[in-house]
Amino acid sequence: MNRHECIASIIPSHSSHQDHAQAYAPTNIALIKYWGKRNKILNLPTNSSLSLSINPLGCQTTIQLQHHVKMHSWQHNQQVIAPDTHRFQRLSQFLDDIKPNKDIYYSIITESNVPMAAGIASSACGFAALVRALDKLHGWQLSLSQMSILSRMASGSACRSLWPGFVQWHCGAAENGLDSHGERLAIDWPELQMGLFLIDSQSKKIGSTEAMTITQQTSPLYKNWPQQAHLDLEQLKAALEQKDFWAFGEVLEKNACLMHQCMEKSTPPIRYTTPATQMLRHAIGSLRDQGIPIFFSQDAGPNLKCFFLQESLSDIKTVFPELIHINPHQERHFPLKPLT
Ligand code: PMV
Repeated sequence: MNRHECIASIIPSHSSHQDHAQAYAPTNIALIKYWGKRNKILNLPTNSSLSLSINPLGCQTTIQLQHHVKMHSWQHNQQVIAPDTHRFQRLSQFLDDIKPNKDIYYSIITESNVPMAAGIASSACGFAALVRALDKLHGWQLSLSQMSILSRMASGSACRSLWPGFVQWHCGAAENGLDSHGERLAIDWPELQMGLFLIDSQSKKIGSTEAMTITQQTSPLYKNWPQQAHLDLEQLKAALEQKDFWAFGEVLEKNACLMHQCMEKSTPPIRYTTPATQMLRHAIGSLRDQGIPIFFSQDAGPNLKCFFLQESLSDIKTVFPELIHINPHQERHFPLKPLT
């Protein structure tokens, strides 16, 4: 099944049109990482992953049909995105793939408080909100799993942004990817908090798709990754069920470090870790050695996210006043509150 057949098997053949529609999706941070694709066209992963949605950080998308113009338009945080940019073309390609009729063009307005391309999954919430908005606009009434599959085809990690809380992206085994989507876990952990160290909010130098390909093709460590990620995911789920924070933190930090080690052993080596990242990793480890439970995670960028329990917040803020504390369970506010 190719991409078009796959999309066509999900979207109902009769679409209606509202005048406009609006939807929100939170960003998500992977606790067990997705790294590597078994099918690049359908964005199918080599391993299952597990994330926590960050409710107050995300993207609100408003979508309208264009009546007089024969191309899509996109305005992000009140700025027009030029059609010759990579990000516009990526969005436009996805809209062309998914639209129910070839003569339809959309006007997209997005508002987001997630810095773009800084390794904090700005595309994940963007594409998840877009799919939700399209579903409303056309009255498709898709299930969350179906929307997750469509979002996955735009950006892998987007398939986890359809739900709040802990979400597992099942790797799936089917060639058409219809079993590769997110699922919310029935676990709440309101005491679990997150922090963000914004070391660098510039665009990443090498995108995750390219970095995954290089890692898969050249890193000698990668052959163990899918199996290890699977074991890590099972351990993390067990820790979540028991609300065992130390076990939870140890496995999520170990999994992120392994992903970065795999990349660093690639040819050419891929390094998202800067000296500032490295220093912070050590500082977090030292704080832990003093008995304060705090663990970090790192995605395709130099910034670190950390996880801790509410009771440790004031101790952690004393040591790291620059830490941006985010309560992942907090309701979102409109207009979206900026990060800093
Ligand atoms: O969904 P992508 O193509 O942006 O890849 C995401 C990769 C990581 O953020 C590093 C890991 C993850 O599971 O989100």
